[in-house]
Amino acid sequence: MKGVILAGGTGSRLYPLTKVTNKHLLPVYNKPMIYYPLETLARAGIKDILIISGKDHAGHFLNLLGSGRDFGVNLSFEVQDGASGIAHALSLAENFSGKESIAVILGDNIFEDDISKDIASFERQAGGARIFLKEVGDANRFGVAEIRGDAIIGIEEKPKDPKSNLAVTGLYMYDSDVFDIIRTISPSERGEYEITDVNNAYIKRGSLSYSLLRGDWTDAGTFESLFKANNIAREHHEKTNLNG
Ligand code: G1P
Repeated sequence: MKGVILAGGTGSRLYPLTKVTNKHLLPVYNKPMIYYPLETLARAGIKDILIISGKDHAGHFLNLLGSGRDFGVNLSFEVQDGASGIAHALSLAENFSGKESIAVILGDNIFEDDISKDIASFERQAGGARIFLKEVGDANRFGVAEIRGDAIIGIEEKPKDPKSNLAVTGLYMYDSDVFDIIRTISPSERGEYEITDVNNAYIKRGSLSYSLLRGDWTDAGTFESLFKANNIAREHHEKTNLNG
């Protein structure tokens, strides 16, 4: 399995922190934000990782991360012109992924969990896609899953009245059909190609599974969630240092 980190977007919700730099380069406790998703993939044994960013700061990612050797991975870079949404950014990974399945992570998502087991179980599953859900108190900020029995029957993007408290986190696993699916979707009301539309297409095919996340998780795209991300990173750092 290969990895893809999506680090584009304008970071408008964090303005003026993002006036001259990219959101994913901002500090989260003791590291630049993008280190966290990169380490989540590397920890899970993923070796080939593509970073997709906007053109304004693409060079900074290269300066910061180089070949990926320090993380034990091989990095590639791709530029997204404009900011047309997560699914559009992901479409740029088609050549990179070849026919392999991919783990896709949003560059502003901080996961405490080790996802190695989920990757192994996804690879045993016959294709399709898998998402990761987390119970939250403010589901209306996210994609929200509707579950019936054991099955996921729909996802709504930032609903006013969420049908559950299960947020769709920014970590997804897809088979190589994902690129054909992206070609079938249209921009949403906010003018973006939505990853939620891609996931709903997999639900329609009956091939979207999910895992419930165990450890802490947050995005870091708003002042409040960035603050929370700092706290999670600090607590995790202290915990792991205590354990030697
Ligand atoms: C995106 C997705 C949303 C998901 C969230 C996780 O939202 O569209 O479904 O729950 O990431 O961080 P965004 O933060 O881009 O608005």
